[in-house]
Amino acid sequence: MDQTRYSNTARGLHWLMAVLIVLTVPAGLVMVQEGISRDLQNALFLYHKNVGVLLLLLVAVRLAWRWRNPPPPKPASLPQWQARIAEATHVALYALLVAVPVAGYVRVRAGGFPIESLDALGVPALVPRSDALAEVAKTIHYGAGLLIAAVIALHVGAALFHGIVKRDGVFSRMWPPLGGRGR
Ligand code: HEM
Ligand code: HEM
Repeated sequence: MDQTRYSNTARGLHWLMAVLIVLTVPAGLVMVQEGISRDLQNALFLYHKNVGVLLLLLVAVRLAWRWRNPPPPKPASLPQWQARIAEATHVALYALLVAVPVAGYVRVRAGGFPIESLDALGVPALVPRSDALAEVAKTIHYGAGLLIAAVIALHVGAALFHGIVKRDGVFSRMWPPLGGRGR
């Protein structure tokens, strides 16, 4: 048992979600541009909506896992104020990881559009058809989508600073994605 690393499950979910989000944000930004081909637009929408829903399921699994398996204690060398900022950033990331896909889901379902994976599984729309609701959700999805991209940039910057400059063991709490010595 290695108490300095996140568990294999926590690290695996972190990196799987990180890869998917890094692809999902640009897909969302490009797919609404005028002038891209209809085929590309369809492919990006297909990817964005369905992987977005997958991300929502993954964050639910991740939060449930975290609730039962709290993270290892932070390195004692980490100043208190940095630990507090990291904590606040992680809470913000989790909140946005829930809010962004939920708003995307409401935007699409209230607008009366398909979500192909859920439709294939026979999962009915969970929100009523309403243009007003779709419009509000669209605004929230847009704002929260840009906000999560900004918080992720901050988070990645801090992680790289720890990993490359300070080398204080913070980075290797979340690395490698699987394996290494860990729980
Ligand atoms: C791209 C989307 C990403 C998201 C949404 C994300 C989200 C998160 C969250 C929520 C945590 C807190 C884990 C917990 O305590 O339960 C975390 C931890 C961590 N992440 Fe990320 N992350 C992302 C990308 C990255 C990248 C690219 C790196 C490295 C360059 C990174 C490095 C880390 C490290 C080192 C920790 C552990 C921090 C600690 O010691 O508490 N993350 N991440
Ligand atoms: C963590 C997951 C997600 C992230 C990070 C994300 C991010 C984004 C971003 C940055 C945009 C571009 C901003 C804009 O033009 O509105 C966007 C657009 C969009 N997203 Fe997402 N999204 C996610 C999940 C979803 C889900 C689950 C759905 C629906 C099932 C969805 C549906 C849409 C739609 C339809 C647009 C086009 C804008 C519009 O016309 O409403 N997204 N997303």
